[in-house]
Amino acid sequence: MNYKKRTHTCGELRLDNSGEQITLNGWIDSRRNLGGIIFIYLRDRYGITQVVFNPQQNQELYQLAETLRNEFVISVTGRVEKRPDGMINKQVASGEIEVVADELTILNKAETPPFEIKDEIDVNEETRLKYRYLDLRRTPLQQSLLTRHKMYQTTRRYFDELNFVEIETPILMKSTPEGARDYLVPSRVHPGKFYALPQSPQTYKQILMVAGFDRYFQIVKCFRDEDLRADRQPEFTQIDVEMSFVDEQDIFSMAEGLMVRMFKEIKGIDIKTPFRMLTYKDAIEKYGSDKPDTRFDLTFTNLNDVLSNIDFKVFSETIKKGGVVSGFAVPNCATYSRSQLDNLTEFVKKIGAGGLVWMRVTENGIETPIEKFLGKQVLDDIRTKMNAQIGDLILLISDEWSKAYNILGALRLEMADRLNLMDNNKFELLWVTDFPLLEFVPEENRFVAVHHPFTSPKIEDLPLLETETKKVRARAYDLVLNGSEIAGGSIRIFNQELQSKMFNLLGISEEEAQKKFGFLLDAFKYGAPPHGGIAFGFDRIAMLLTGQKSIRDVIAFPKTTSATSLMDDSPSEVDTRQLNELHIKVV
Ligand code: AMO
Repeated sequence: MNYKKRTHTCGELRLDNSGEQITLNGWIDSRRNLGGIIFIYLRDRYGITQVVFNPQQNQELYQLAETLRNEFVISVTGRVEKRPDGMINKQVASGEIEVVADELTILNKAETPPFEIKDEIDVNEETRLKYRYLDLRRTPLQQSLLTRHKMYQTTRRYFDELNFVEIETPILMKSTPEGARDYLVPSRVHPGKFYALPQSPQTYKQILMVAGFDRYFQIVKCFRDEDLRADRQPEFTQIDVEMSFVDEQDIFSMAEGLMVRMFKEIKGIDIKTPFRMLTYKDAIEKYGSDKPDTRFDLTFTNLNDVLSNIDFKVFSETIKKGGVVSGFAVPNCATYSRSQLDNLTEFVKKIGAGGLVWMRVTENGIETPIEKFLGKQVLDDIRTKMNAQIGDLILLISDEWSKAYNILGALRLEMADRLNLMDNNKFELLWVTDFPLLEFVPEENRFVAVHHPFTSPKIEDLPLLETETKKVRARAYDLVLNGSEIAGGSIRIFNQELQSKMFNLLGISEEEAQKKFGFLLDAFKYGAPPHGGIAFGFDRIAMLLTGQKSIRDVIAFPKTTSATSLMDDSPSEVDTRQLNELHIKVV
């Protein structure tokens, strides 16, 4: 088709261009007929420009313009003119001018889209995902993808300047399940054998350290067959990093530098370094989460010492059994009604609590249903210990350590949500360190690695490895932003003997370790340098920087929470012939 190619984009023309003869190519955003004149907004990813068709000037052209509908693709040529005074639109960058058309070519017609292409739409996500190409025409999604693009460039510049080498690692690899389930790919050439898609390039990056690439990074897709949520996708992107001859501090400085750069270049915000640090234990005991949202306070106070000698069994028995009574004071909520309090009790019961103890701090002292069990002195002690003020509502949970804090963590977020304490313009970054190395899984009657089996224990905890395994802390760290885990990593084991001991603790026999990770253990025999690294969740960072609620909104073609792609309808059935070639039978 013969048509005039654009001389400008739809976001480009300004008053300065007045009088110029120009051509625009784009999509019809809207069409209005006012007083016998047709006005269209023409759109491309750069913006929108008003184009005018006046029957007085060109009747034939006007008639053609009457056939235009939303999302038609056109080429239009005309003169840039200053809009009449009352017609200026300050909301639009090109709002001071319009193009008076004298040529129009319809490049393509469009069916009526299932939803309007505008910023705010009220359509279910399924429809948006099915017609993703239309959804992606909307400004919020365009902005998200542009932000991602900038993040790639910032990342590459940053690491290049610091002498890191970008190295690609295989997508078809050996299955070494640990943590999530692997996605498997059958081999046609080797019947009955499978590749796995990498859950992360962990083993490869460690092998690259053995190979001498002391500073590696990669922007890489990872694949995990796990339960999905708003911040989890089956395939997601990491900024993967590994460094040799380093300790935790080197990793922190590198990661903080990247974050500083990212915030400056993407949001124009200066963030302060070094980031705050919290041990895992403190994070749990203060915030009830290993990824605490520290934009607001509401931190917990353990009341065990105030309550251990009282007669109230709910508390004293819990404490005797090694549990905790802990909670927090919520400012200005002493006025909560009985039904609001019942509602909070319902909330904690739903997530497994036996109950919720509440106390109103009033002018006349503390009002609580358990007043008669505790007595005035104990109530005063609680108030002092919690530094509670008149008007506060104290909320307490008593349970076994991890359960109590888990429930309190959820309740803290619930209260913050109700009180609107999560400020989206605030960015709180912090490191969580000293995670436990291993976690006991009763169902499997064995320990599993909290991070992964290559994470080094803390040197000072090495003597506890076989005697008090649960107490051993890892040289692992997570980076948390506003309550989201945005990166995680560790200093690795680089000594073959310690690695074997780890496998042993994990209940992985020597034979199995050799079968699964033999290649890594072999590599370690040939001079492995001390090394460590981290991986950033690229999608989560993009989500937080763009203020989106779900990582699906910063991924061009995401999957649903049941891991399907509604646009291209995958996963899908395949031909029997394909299955036969792969030596696979569906049962
Ligand atoms: P980890 O498993 O902690 O570490 O992953 C690193 C970061 O990746 C992000 N992330 C995800 N994002 C979206 N969807 C998912 N399903 C998903 N899973 C994880 C998180 C997380 O912090 N190899 C190690 C890193 C290392 O030790 O160097 C690893 O993959 O933001």
